[in-house]
Amino acid sequence: MVIGCPKEIKVHEYRVGLTPSNVHEYKEAGHKIFIEHDAGSAIGFSDEEYHKAGAEIVDKETLFKQSDMIIKVKEPIESEYNYFREGQTLFTYLHLAADRKLTDMLLEKKINAVAYETIKVRNVLPCLAPMSSIAGRLAVIESAKYIQKTFGGNGTLLSGIPGTPKGKVTIIGAGVVGLNAAQLAVGMGADVTILDIDTARLAYVDQIFNMRIHTLFSSRANLLSSIADSDVVIGAVLIPGAKAPKLVKKDDLQCMKAGSILTDVAIDQGGCFETSRPTTHDNPIFDIAGILHYCVANMPGAVAKTATLALTDSTLNFGLNIAKLGVKEAALKDSGILEGLNTYNGKCTYKGVSDAFSIAYTEAKEVLC
Ligand SMILES: NC(=O)c1ccc[n+]([C@@H]2O[C@H](COP(=O)([O-])OP(=O)(O)OC[C@H]3O[C@@H](n4cnc5c(N)ncnc54)[C@H](O)[C@@H]3O)[C@@H](O)[C@H]2O)c1
Repeated sequence: MVIGCPKEIKVHEYRVGLTPSNVHEYKEAGHKIFIEHDAGSAIGFSDEEYHKAGAEIVDKETLFKQSDMIIKVKEPIESEYNYFREGQTLFTYLHLAADRKLTDMLLEKKINAVAYETIKVRNVLPCLAPMSSIAGRLAVIESAKYIQKTFGGNGTLLSGIPGTPKGKVTIIGAGVVGLNAAQLAVGMGADVTILDIDTARLAYVDQIFNMRIHTLFSSRANLLSSIADSDVVIGAVLIPGAKAPKLVKKDDLQCMKAGSILTDVAIDQGGCFETSRPTTHDNPIFDIAGILHYCVANMPGAVAKTATLALTDSTLNFGLNIAKLGVKEAALKDSGILEGLNTYNGKCTYKGVSDAFSIAYTEAKEVLC
């Protein structure tokens, strides 16, 4: 198969879909690889290294024209839509339930799109988890920074010092993001509360933190009382493939402390706070009613080197499988890839996406057989 890996063009997105060592593996498996000029240079993967590993370095247009499968990191943005051609396979993060325009483009152009974030193996999302681990940790680092007075925050040091109160951190969602955020926040010495609707998960969290963390069932009342008392609120919920539920409403901001911060990690799924809107690393925060909002949709991009290595470790084998068998056979043989298939031959094959936009849904197996 001919595989193309373009340079990411989102603001401050330096991750890349393939490393030179990945190229070597694809090459060994008999595939032809195109890498866009300078695709990995920002994180130390030079064109020369890719070339040595067996890739051809080309411009974006040649890459899209000649490749059967495009391997990216982030969902294509509008300026990239025209490069795609009918029947191409796309392997990347997509978050389609939050992006109607992209969904329409993929359906119209009959792109066979496998979304990293919906690949599921034994109830785990293996290609989302590493980025979630990074985003969870960064959420605490960024919140600790923006809560400082100089950035418009309420001037709390999350750890406090002896004789002063600790900063209060509420984390909504005890999944991978939530757990990693909790690890860092507890490690920093903050007073941490974590909410989830999954009580078994809360029991697990309680156990691994040896009772050094408050766990709360995510009822509306518990959520409101917890955010009212917090300096930092981290939104980390996920309903796989669907838009995030709006758990903190605009009116709820009135009950929060002035200068506290809402960090909406779930923004890539539309955000779990009503007042969230996506921001970029260039301009990450905004203020509504005295409450700071941090809503960067590609947080791991800030630590692009670690993120690229972690991401490609988890995507490599799925990509090699698709390259070997073609997307159809690969999806029929590998249930993880089948779960990842969001669009195929002009049909929407992911229920969460069809529900988000009330568009027709066809079960992936039905389209493939
Ligand atoms: N902004 C970024 O750069 C970035 C990076 C990685 C992940 N994410 C996003 O972070 C979010 C969380 O990802 P994850 O990997 O931790 O998911 P996960 O599936 O591991 O965890 C989600 C948790 O949310 C819980 N949940 C669902 N509804 C809830 C509710 N009403 N109240 C409280 N908890 C609820 C679930 O029970 C689950 O434990 C996702 O939206 C993901 O796309 C964003």
